[in-house]
Amino acid sequence: MSELDEKIPNNVGLSTDKRLQRALEKWQPNYINWWKEMGPLGHQADNVYLRTAISVESGGWANFDHVKMPDYRWGIFLEPKTEGKTIGFGDELGKPVWDEVPGEHRNALRRLIVTQGDTEPASVEQQRRLGDTAPSMYDMRNLFQVNVEEGRHLWAMVYLLHRYFGRDGREEAEDLLNRRSGDDDKPRILGAFNEPTNHWLSFFLFAMFTDRDGKYQLAALAESGFDPLARTCSFMLTEEAHHLFVGETGVGRIVQRTCELMKKDPNDDARAQGGIDLPTLQKYINQWYSVCLDLFGGESSSNAADAFAAGLKGRYKEQSRFEDHVCLEGVKDMTFVEGNKLVTKEVAVRTAMNEYLREDYIVDCQRAVDRWNKTIESAGINFTLKLPSSRFHRSIGNYAEHSFDPEGNLISAAEFEAKKGEWLSTPEDEIYVTSIMKPCLEPGKIANWIAPPRRGINGQPFEYEYVKLA
Ligand SMILES: [Fe+2]
Ligand SMILES: [Fe+2]
Repeated sequence: MSELDEKIPNNVGLSTDKRLQRALEKWQPNYINWWKEMGPLGHQADNVYLRTAISVESGGWANFDHVKMPDYRWGIFLEPKTEGKTIGFGDELGKPVWDEVPGEHRNALRRLIVTQGDTEPASVEQQRRLGDTAPSMYDMRNLFQVNVEEGRHLWAMVYLLHRYFGRDGREEAEDLLNRRSGDDDKPRILGAFNEPTNHWLSFFLFAMFTDRDGKYQLAALAESGFDPLARTCSFMLTEEAHHLFVGETGVGRIVQRTCELMKKDPNDDARAQGGIDLPTLQKYINQWYSVCLDLFGGESSSNAADAFAAGLKGRYKEQSRFEDHVCLEGVKDMTFVEGNKLVTKEVAVRTAMNEYLREDYIVDCQRAVDRWNKTIESAGINFTLKLPSSRFHRSIGNYAEHSFDPEGNLISAAEFEAKKGEWLSTPEDEIYVTSIMKPCLEPGKIANWIAPPRRGINGQPFEYEYVKLA
């Protein structure tokens, strides 16, 4: 194995591609500078029990060891190529997949890759201050694992830009390190990735709802006729699964602990016991979920139709779940606002691609909420967490210019303003939630507001020293 392959594990023949090597060698030091400046604050010298991918084979992609994050081996991995693969949908259905970027789709593909790539460093930036308030060593380790893997996902997209897009690809790769989450002058591209993630409740909801959007975007790109993109995204999905686990179980453990605290309290008041009460949790769910629904784009979208027609971005599990991969016929019912009422109209299937993906996402989110509700139910508490209507609190698409209540009823802007504090987290909620985020960094100990996990990482016990603080 060459020294380069040792430093940057890969299955893309990096040590034999001089042009790519030169491009990455210029980019890599800037990446490390970005990581040191914007990665986990104050924890760069800690030894963290991390999973590193060193190959795509089972057993190769999950190597566990204590490493300092700046020394993490960010690799470049594509799922192995399937010979004879054909484009699975759109106007070019059945033709061979592309191994190079087709000229006519160059701009659209670059935009898809840059938009996906931009979310990866953005989330690291959003989460950079959370280490110091970790509720346990186990959680701290999971945060850092998610962070280094988002760093690797940036590498994955930058590889595509460098390898397939020439000079403008290199410029885009630089820009991915120059934008900053929440910055007024050079913000990240998508709204949810500029939202503050100030505490662990938001972190878990981010990993639950925002990373889950990532799963569906990656799955749609994994269908792409541009084969290197499809293979890159397929491998990223294996890592993404852990992020979703961190989010879903993180919220689940909060729910469990909240129920315990309610039972302890004479007035069933979780806040009085230093926990996160269920109505507050509901407000944060409303907040994050609605912001994440926007990430799928407008309900009816000519961009989405073009990307489908061109064979660039398919539906979730396009191959296994659908019969018609051309979608030139048929319509989908969609709700629009006209005057001051909701009307249903038919939209061409291709134009509704964003909405199909969003609907699959919603089903997946509901599954998680149902699990949380089981916990509440088994504790004998009468409360049901709910996903708000997909019309509630939207900034993009059919409902953006209008106000809705969480049930999806059209209301006036004034009524929304008046009720906003009941539906979405308030500055007071932020102050309260932030106030209980006391670090708990002794192995085996856990903060008061969250239950311990059922098991540890990679067969290690919860008490394991997941992070050796510097
Ligand atoms: Fe990612
Ligand atoms: Fe992720």
